Amino acid sequence: MEITVLSGSPKGDDSVTLQYVRYMKKTFPDHVYHIFHVARQIRKLERDEKAFQDIVEKIALSDAVVWCFPLYYCLVCSQYKRFIELVFERKKGEAFRNKYAVSLSTSVHFFDHTAHNYIHGICDDLEMKYIGGYSAEMYDLVRSRERARFVQFAGNFLKSVARQAPAVKQFPAVVRSEFVHEPGPSRQTVTTGDKKVLILVDEEKESGNLGKMIKAFRDNFIHDVEVISLTNIDIKGGCLGCCQCGIDNVCQYQGKDGYIDFYNEKVKTADIIVFAGEIRDRYLSSRWKQYFDRSFFNTHTPTLKDKQIAFLLSGPLAQLPNLQEILSAYAQFQLANLAGIVTDEGEDSLRLDELLVDLAGRVVDLAGQGYVHPTDFLGIGGMKIFRDEVWGMLRFVFQADHRYYKQHGYYDFPQKDFKTRRVNFFMMLMTKIPAFKKKFLKMIEKEMVKPLKNVVESK
Ligand SMILES: Cc1cc2nc3c(=O)[nH]c(=O)nc-3n(C[C@H](O)[C@H](O)[C@H](O)COP(=O)(O)O)c2cc1C
Repeated sequence: MEITVLSGSPKGDDSVTLQYVRYMKKTFPDHVYHIFHVARQIRKLERDEKAFQDIVEKIALSDAVVWCFPLYYCLVCSQYKRFIELVFERKKGEAFRNKYAVSLSTSVHFFDHTAHNYIHGICDDLEMKYIGGYSAEMYDLVRSRERARFVQFAGNFLKSVARQAPAVKQFPAVVRSEFVHEPGPSRQTVTTGDKKVLILVDEEKESGNLGKMIKAFRDNFIHDVEVISLTNIDIKGGCLGCCQCGIDNVCQYQGKDGYIDFYNEKVKTADIIVFAGEIRDRYLSSRWKQYFDRSFFNTHTPTLKDKQIAFLLSGPLAQLPNLQEILSAYAQFQLANLAGIVTDEGEDSLRLDELLVDLAGRVVDLAGQGYVHPTDFLGIGGMKIFRDEVWGMLRFVFQADHRYYKQHGYYDFPQKDFKTRRVNFFMMLMTKIPAFKKKFLKMIEKEMVKPLKNVVESK
């Protein structure tokens, strides 16, 4: 069988993820593997249509495609995202049609599922036969049990291709609307007070719904609010995954382009940040992805803590629950408040204007209150993953995170809670006594709610 591997790490041959493919190749040597470093070579592939076409032709002749990538901010890296955009822009979908596919990632399991959902959705859009995703923890390959598991997965994948197994399509095609927003007159009723509002857009266009939404939103404020287009920031390239930032948050690009100064001087100093963009395939644009990836110089520390954030999006967000989850996760990881998301999906200009007026007033009001919505499973679960990783294996690489986590009380492991440990020890001992256990089981319901009732009653 011929298998094309689309390698999605900016690190090329030194990619952690690629070592899984190399292991697969050694375990199943009877197949031909064509490996393309599409993320690392994205500049060349953008410029050189022939180089891009060579990859497309190999895919067309292959039996299967392995989408092999590291997790970057709940998705693939911006360079890989750009490759996917090029496939659609250059109308090369036909080469992928009916090919078997799997997604293979390495990560620390922080929102690995959203990246696999994304690739699965792309495979469904390309009418591929997606067999499944394998999300390995970075070093699974050095563990014999995990190696065995991976070999089983790869073997089953090859078997599925050989027997031409049917595949399930999970993600319905996204339907895009033709709606054209006709904004009403500007209102200029909201005063920002001492709050600094920043609107970021990947590409500023006056025409189109997004441009009109930005203008309508901005016109609600009495004073001018700043709009920055990412096209006007000198960004030399995507995150390279080198992790040099881990020690003291100094990025390899420091002093070489304008991104870091822009992030420190504009983004970190704003109280309210509005992210504006058009939905591209099943995410935002690769330029937006580049913005998020490059913010990794702050490694695993939140930089938007207590800020209000909002999204103005043009496109079918309601059809993309995976993207909704990513946006929510982003806000929660940042310890920011997701004040709202306004899209043009309602297909009603009057209503859209109302939503924008409401959002403008709300972000300022919430900023004044300092309100931040509590985190849910996305934020709490995600943070516990980082806490354990930075405490453990990642600590010497991400020393800046370790310092931050220590200072900010992130190491809230229950094993340090000596009072709870004493209570647990005593109660576990006591419940071994049958008479006490019987009494305890009768009391448990009342005792559980007691501290809460005390608060309510003392009000
Ligand atoms: C910019 C950046 C963003 C990352 N985002 C995530 C993430 O969202 N979730 C996660 O589990 N790991 C994340 N990681 C960790 C990488 O996915 C992980 O180190 C991976 O194994 C690297 O693989 P590679 O060597 O093939 O590039 C991120 C790393 C970088 C550099």
